[in-house]
Amino acid sequence: MHIHWYPGHIAKAERQLKEKLNLVDVVIEVRDARIPLSSSYANIEKLLGDKPRLLLLNKADLVDKQELKKWTFYLKETTGCPVIVTDAKGSKDLPLVIKTAIELSEPKIQALMAKGLLRRAARAMVVGMPNVGKSSVINKLTRSSKTKIGAKAGVTRQQQWVRINPKLELLDTPGIIPTKQDNQTQAAKLAFVSSVSENAYSPEPVAKALLEMLGDRVKEYYKVEELTLENVAISRNWIIRGETPDTERTAKYILKDFREGRLGLFILDELPE
Ligand code: G4P
Repeated sequence: MHIHWYPGHIAKAERQLKEKLNLVDVVIEVRDARIPLSSSYANIEKLLGDKPRLLLLNKADLVDKQELKKWTFYLKETTGCPVIVTDAKGSKDLPLVIKTAIELSEPKIQALMAKGLLRRAARAMVVGMPNVGKSSVINKLTRSSKTKIGAKAGVTRQQQWVRINPKLELLDTPGIIPTKQDNQTQAAKLAFVSSVSENAYSPEPVAKALLEMLGDRVKEYYKVEELTLENVAISRNWIIRGETPDTERTAKYILKDFREGRLGLFILDELPE
């Protein structure tokens, strides 16, 4: 299995992210709860400098709640950032996200006031890897308040701000964290959750890697003795030219089954000791 990365895209993505980061007081980093470590970016702390960060473990509906609690604790301890569990279906987590973003920005606002400036709303942006749910989070945060306040001086025209409440404004487009990972296991996990473009890999080896990772936990779902693409294809009767198991179609279905939560609620990263 090999997942291809394009260094040029990564450099460009980092540059664009940096430009946006300069505009905000606080960063809301969205991760996929199914891969709380693999959907993080090694360079993020360097990119952020001392900018405060709030971590969201999104797609919480697709993972085991008890396991996620342990991860929340672990990430709070290791990053020093507040961690909030979210899912696109509910909106009960919204007030906490808004309140925490405002609290994290307060030292910066206070520092500006100490320099003699008037109090202003804190400015936030959402960042994360592709498909982790950044746009869904932005939509949820801005749903209640559609007050577009337009471009600010010195800010490119496309950057629109939305006033969430008098104390918080949000950039209406997310910052995209590049999905570069040095190791292929992490890359595969990003492919499982669609954070990597389908052009970067072929489905068979990736689905095979997923089956290996899930092992016995999904045997029952596919009703096969031994978990192979061929066996799953045969059990579904996906055969081409009367004899060959259609492994490509099977691989695509397995990935879809996982992505839509039909195989169960799994966190694929291992919680460090
Ligand atoms: P992005 O901006 O980070 O790229 O992600 P986006 O919000 O576009 O979300 C990517 C996909 O993940 C969308 O599904 C979205 O509905 C889904 N999603 C976002 N948050 C959650 C969540 O908390 N739980 C679950 N189960 N799914 C979530 P899609 O199939 O691409 O589109 P659609 O289903 O919305 O039509």
